[in-house]
Amino acid sequence: MSGKTEKLLSLLAGQPVIPVIKIKHADDAVPLARALVAGGLRMIEITLRTPDALECIRRVAKDVDGAIVGAGTVLNPKQFDEAVAAGSKFIVSPGLTTSLIAAAANSDVPLLPGAITPGEIMTALEAGIDFLKFFPAEQAGGTTFLRSLASPLAAARFCPTGGVSPHNAEEYLAVPNVVCVGGSWVAPDDAIREGKWDVIESLARGASRLVPA
Ligand code: 3PG
Repeated sequence: MSGKTEKLLSLLAGQPVIPVIKIKHADDAVPLARALVAGGLRMIEITLRTPDALECIRRVAKDVDGAIVGAGTVLNPKQFDEAVAAGSKFIVSPGLTTSLIAAAANSDVPLLPGAITPGEIMTALEAGIDFLKFFPAEQAGGTTFLRSLASPLAAARFCPTGGVSPHNAEEYLAVPNVVCVGGSWVAPDDAIREGKWDVIESLARGASRLVPA
């Protein structure tokens, strides 16, 4: 296991679900993150899919006790650096590129990059990255595909994300090479829009209690 993986695992501290969050308005970031933390999900991925995303990361890093905020949908080294400067403790990308591998190698902040095919996974392992986002999980073959990677690519562990929900999360968690799952279901767009932080806290609490099936 690489040192960066150890770092990610220690940030995760057994949390079964990484919430994947898209926030339109920076003012929602702090109450949303507080609700997730109150529900037991401390490690939070804020995706760089909205103009306010970096500001959201800044505010959560500064103002939410107990939150471990990271950036998702990081596509290139420039975004990697901006996300780290905003206070991200980890970086998630949907795929693996040579430029992101290089950016991660030059940073103390760990990268959780997407990799699905055996070739992508081998490239990651060669770069010393052995904890990977398996994205999009359901569409790519789900638990059956993941189980078939376990023997030939035994060093790789995964965070399946994409199409994971309370209905199938525990099946994913039961796969031996799965560490945790990622999902957006804990922070639905309408609950954020309406400021229903109690709903989000309750969804987070449910997610934080998921166990392998
Ligand atoms: C994403 O990056 O969109 C995540 O994989 C979330 O997928 P989900 O909305 O299916 O949970």
